[in-house]
Amino acid sequence: MRGRTCVITGANAGLGYESTRALAHQGGEIVMICRSGERGEKARASIISETGNPDIHLLIADLSSQEDVRQAARIINNRWGKVDVLMNNAAMVLSKRILNDDGIEMQFAVNHISHFLLTHCLLPSLVSSPHARVINVSSRNHWFGKIHFGNLTLKGTYQLLIAYAQSKLANVLFTNELDRQLHAHGIDHVVTHCIDPGRNLTDIGLKHTNRLHTWVWKLRRKKAQHPAEGARTQIYVATSPDISHLSGQYWVNMNPDVSAPQSHDPDAARKLWQISEVMCGIEDYFRPPSGTIIEPTVKPEAPAEMA
Ligand SMILES: NC(=O)c1ccc[n+]([C@@H]2O[C@H](COP(=O)([O-])OP(=O)(O)OC[C@H]3O[C@@H](n4cnc5c(N)ncnc54)[C@H](OP(=O)(O)O)[C@@H]3O)[C@@H](O)[C@H]2O)c1
Repeated sequence: MRGRTCVITGANAGLGYESTRALAHQGGEIVMICRSGERGEKARASIISETGNPDIHLLIADLSSQEDVRQAARIINNRWGKVDVLMNNAAMVLSKRILNDDGIEMQFAVNHISHFLLTHCLLPSLVSSPHARVINVSSRNHWFGKIHFGNLTLKGTYQLLIAYAQSKLANVLFTNELDRQLHAHGIDHVVTHCIDPGRNLTDIGLKHTNRLHTWVWKLRRKKAQHPAEGARTQIYVATSPDISHLSGQYWVNMNPDVSAPQSHDPDAARKLWQISEVMCGIEDYFRPPSGTIIEPTVKPEAPAEMA
C-alpha cells in the first residue's frame, strides 16, 4: 500500500482500528476520521508505535454533523488531493430515537448519510487516483431492513434493530447506485464495494444502548470473532490486486456473496439517492462543493501492485 492514501471512518475502535492497523503495516498513508480526539490520538499512537509507520493522521469529525463531514473532506482534498481507498466504516446503534441537528434519525445520519456526503465531497480526490476503491461496511442485518420512505425517522415505530437494519440496507443500496452512477459518468477507475464483516467482539452495542440492549449485545458477542478476524474482508477488498476489475460487489468472508433481494431494487436505490441528496443539500452529486465538475479526465493507469 506504499504511496496509497486511505481514509477510514471510525478508525479508533473495532473493525476500523484493525483495518487501520493492517493498512499501516502494509505501508499505506492513513487518514483516520474519529469523533473523539482523545480516543483517536490513543489509537493513532498505538498504531504508529506497533507498525513503525509514521504516516498515520487523525482528523476529528462527528459524522452526525454534515458540517464536520464537509470540513474533514475539505482538509483531505486540500492536503492530500488523492484518495486511493475510502473505507466508510463508522456506525452507531442507539436504543433511543434521537434526531440530529438536521432532523435526521441518528443511525440513518451517521451510518448512511455521513458516508453518502463524504464520498460526494471526496470525489475530486478519488478521481485523482489511478484506481480508487470506496468500501461501505454494511451488515448481515440489512437482510431484515426496509427503507421507510414515508417515515425515515421512524416516528412512532422506532426500534434499535429496525433503524439499524434500515441504515445498513441503505449502505448496500448506496453501493449499488454509486456503482451505476460511476459507470454512467464514465468513471470506471473508481470502484465501490460493500462488506458484511460478520459478528465481531466490539463495543458497538454498548455505547448508546439501554440495559436490555447492552445485555443482549454482551450475550450475542460471546459467539463473536475478534475484530482482527472480522476486518479481513474489508482489508482484502481495500488491498487485493486480484479484484481490481470488480465493482459493485457484496463481500462476505473475503468472497463475493449475495445481498438481500430488497438491496437489488433499482427504484429504491434511486429514490434513496435522491432523498439523500436533498438531505445533504446536494444539487448534483458529481459536482462536489469545490465547484469541480467530475469528469473522467484522469487517464486510468493499470493499478500498481498493491500489498
Ligand atoms: N461488530 C459487529 O458484529 C458488526 C457486525 C456487522 C457489521 N458491523 C459494522 O462494522 C462497522 C464497524 O463497527 P464496529 O463493530 O467496529 O463498532 P465500533 O467498535 O463501535 O466502532 C465504530 C467506530 O465508529 C465511530 N463512530 C461512531 N459514531 C460516530 C460519529 N458520530 N462520528 C464519528 N465516528 C463515529 C466509533 O467512535 P467511538 O470509538 O468514539 O465510539 C468507532 O470508532 C459498522 O459499520 C458496523 O455497522 C459490525
